Amino acid sequence: MRRLLLATCLVTWWAGAAFAADPAEVTRGKYIFGAAGGCGCHTEPKGQPNAGGKKFEGPFGTVYATNITPDKTTGIGGWTDEQIITAIRLGRRPNGERILPVHPFTSFNGMADGDLKAVVAFLRSVPPVSRKNTPKKITVPMFESVFLPAWLVTFAAKETPPAAAPVSGVARGEYLVRAVGHCGECHTPRSAMTMAVDNNRFLAGNPKKTGPEGQLSPNITPDKDTGIGSWTEDQIVTYLGTGNRPDGDVAGGLMGESIQGTLAGYKDMTKADLQAIAKYLKAIPAVKNKIE
Ligand code: HEC
Repeated sequence: MRRLLLATCLVTWWAGAAFAADPAEVTRGKYIFGAAGGCGCHTEPKGQPNAGGKKFEGPFGTVYATNITPDKTTGIGGWTDEQIITAIRLGRRPNGERILPVHPFTSFNGMADGDLKAVVAFLRSVPPVSRKNTPKKITVPMFESVFLPAWLVTFAAKETPPAAAPVSGVARGEYLVRAVGHCGECHTPRSAMTMAVDNNRFLAGNPKKTGPEGQLSPNITPDKDTGIGSWTEDQIVTYLGTGNRPDGDVAGGLMGESIQGTLAGYKDMTKADLQAIAKYLKAIPAVKNKIE
């Protein structure tokens, strides 16, 4: 009984602390968070959801994903909605500092306002975790002052946000793939020299050398020999919804993580959304690009 009382008190306190967010908006936000793969980069394996700390090695040095829980001092609890949205879609912190494009803001830039606002409501609804961000270690001189701004201007293609998120059909699939699911961040070939994505070969895959975290990302264009042209729409839907491949194997690596997600993942998308994605993947140009 006492335990129940304590639990009730905690719940009441927490509900009060997180101010009265519209529960439907939070649910919608959780859905979009899942469609973005559960923002798994911000959760360490077996760690507290969204508390950051996961390590990313790049040609410029090492960065650690940041705490995106609503903790006031170590997370984003002190930021306004607008500041959180600016960080997600433009890669700018409230203090003006740039966020490295390891955070896929050039894709998230294409997210509709309504979806971003819902994601913010959801991010504010999860328990705050006090965990200080680990400072990045940049090894390239003048990387952030000179190289990164120049790189962004030269190479960072940006998605264009629609006035409102498309609700159905191929347009919905395109929106989910390009902006929310940011599939191209891993599946679109990157130049080994500049690490810029080559959108002329959209979703044609990356070998380990240019793949995310050194992982090979298959060609998912409809090319019959080197892509997923032989997969049916239903097989794509099943894969994204469960991780089960047509050949009986299961999705591994970063794909497995994005499908499973954290508090939600690709697997939590509705059948209609997964079908829209499958239709879109069937409609993009087939690119012959053998990934080994
Ligand atoms: C964080 C990186 C990442 C993101 C984001 C990502 N993928 Fe993947 N994807 C991978 C990796 C790595 C594999 C290989 C998985 C394996 O080896 O089991 C893969 C495998 C696949 C496959 C299987 C292809 C084959 O030939 O085996 C499909 C289909 C696929 N992804 C579709 C998508 C779609 C659609 C999205 C966006 C909604 C997406 N992926 C987002 C990294 C990613």
